[in-house]
Amino acid sequence: MTPEQYDHWYASGRGRWIGETEFRLLASELDCQQGDKVLDVGCGTGWFTRRIAGLPQSPSVTGVDVDNEALAYARSQDSRTCYLPANALQLPFADGSFDRVMSVTALCFVPEWSQALSEIVRVTRGRFVLGLLNRHSLLWRQKGRGSHQGAYKGAHWHTRGELLDALDSLAVRNIRFRTAIWLPGGGLVSRTLEACLPHRCPLGGFLLVAGDKA
Ligand SMILES: C[S@@+](CC[C@H](N)C(=O)[O-])C[C@H]1O[C@@H](n2cnc3c(N)ncnc32)[C@H](O)[C@@H]1O
Repeated sequence: MTPEQYDHWYASGRGRWIGETEFRLLASELDCQQGDKVLDVGCGTGWFTRRIAGLPQSPSVTGVDVDNEALAYARSQDSRTCYLPANALQLPFADGSFDRVMSVTALCFVPEWSQALSEIVRVTRGRFVLGLLNRHSLLWRQKGRGSHQGAYKGAHWHTRGELLDALDSLAVRNIRFRTAIWLPGGGLVSRTLEACLPHRCPLGGFLLVAGDKA
């Protein structure tokens, strides 16, 4: 899949619904303040990155990824943001460099994800928010179990328990979990249910974990 094809999926009916639903939850948990410095780890084509950069609080945003083609596409869509090649396992930033650090469905594709989590916490000054794939969800039953191809191929599906274990040794307080995308189809029933269920319900396919630097 080319970066264009990946990014254009977010313009499809289901892709737009999933992207906008996840973005709303991400932005509300990130709670950017005026002039914040924000890092997006595994930014890919920058679909979420450029939306954060476009918030009224005018954050100063940096996106990093190991995929140079995706970064080139991201740069072509967004001149406000600094897009840099970097590995989540060794972020090229000093401790506490960013007010907010986000990462959307990227750590699911990093086998050493707990090391990447430790790096994210290290460079965070204020708050981090990670979007992951939820092992305890209908989405996992549809797309995660078995040997699926396509966008979810090779992904790790997280549980709250393993995230709590990984965060246990890190300088983090106020850990919270939220989920979204309960019925992944994106039709009328999915959208109606999504509007009714609280994000504290643990069974959505998109698992968000947020925490503040201790
Ligand atoms: C499913 S895409 C998500 C992209 C974007 N965050 C989004 O939600 O549209 C996963 C991204 O993680 C990136 N990635 C995988 N391993 C990485 C690593 N070790 N360091 C940085 N980025 C990585 C991939 O290159 C890819 O762009």
